[in-house]
Amino acid sequence: MSDQSCIIIAIAGASASGKSLFASTILKELKTEGVNDIGIISEDNYYKDQSHLALEERVKTNYDHPNAMDRDLLLAHLQTLKAGKAVDIPDYSYVEHTRTQKIHHFEPKKIIILEGILLLTDERIREIADMSVFVDTPLDICFIRRLKRDMEERGRSMESVINQYHATVRPMFLQFIEPSKRYADIIVPRGGKNRIAINMLKAQILHLLGKTPHHSN
Ligand code: CTP
Repeated sequence: MSDQSCIIIAIAGASASGKSLFASTILKELKTEGVNDIGIISEDNYYKDQSHLALEERVKTNYDHPNAMDRDLLLAHLQTLKAGKAVDIPDYSYVEHTRTQKIHHFEPKKIIILEGILLLTDERIREIADMSVFVDTPLDICFIRRLKRDMEERGRSMESVINQYHATVRPMFLQFIEPSKRYADIIVPRGGKNRIAINMLKAQILHLLGKTPHHSN
């Protein structure tokens, strides 16, 4: 277990399982309850820079394999934040399949919620995280959400979403993501709208902060 300078909560699960909704709901509700020293970091911002490759090459990358991530940078940032210093998080474009020129300046926080598909597959991330959660949403629901989202928000065609799902998203889920569920402290069925799980996580965070828990109904 890491030191308590900041508390890192890792939230993993399949693509489009509702990780970011789960994380943002916890953050929003805790803020309304007066916990402001809290932030979210997405593993997606740590996809490797591919600006040296042509776009036709970048689309061929397997984005669901651990090697697609710049894990060393993510880990270095988590260590820096644990040491109480700010980091500059890269910005990522799903349309260009690489980093943009932008950065996100992130000040250290008492509570950091980290969300991403492959987090629990990395022993170093499991080690630095103080608590880990696996959002366990049925794959058919994830696929429907992903199809809609990738077409509406990530500039993809239906055919490309389906092809990528068959080629990498589903096989990598079965090979890497699902087996990493065993490392989670808490498994959350159904995803981001699981009210009991949201309340439990909030109560645990308040407990770690030494505050009395308040539950939403
Ligand atoms: N991905 C992609 N193209 C890229 C980079 C990533 O299609 N250039 C996809 C990967 O295939 C991976 C997914 O992005 O499966 C990871 O993002 P996802 O977990 O789906 O996004 P979140 O918003 O975090 O999901 P959730 O709905 O669970 O919040």
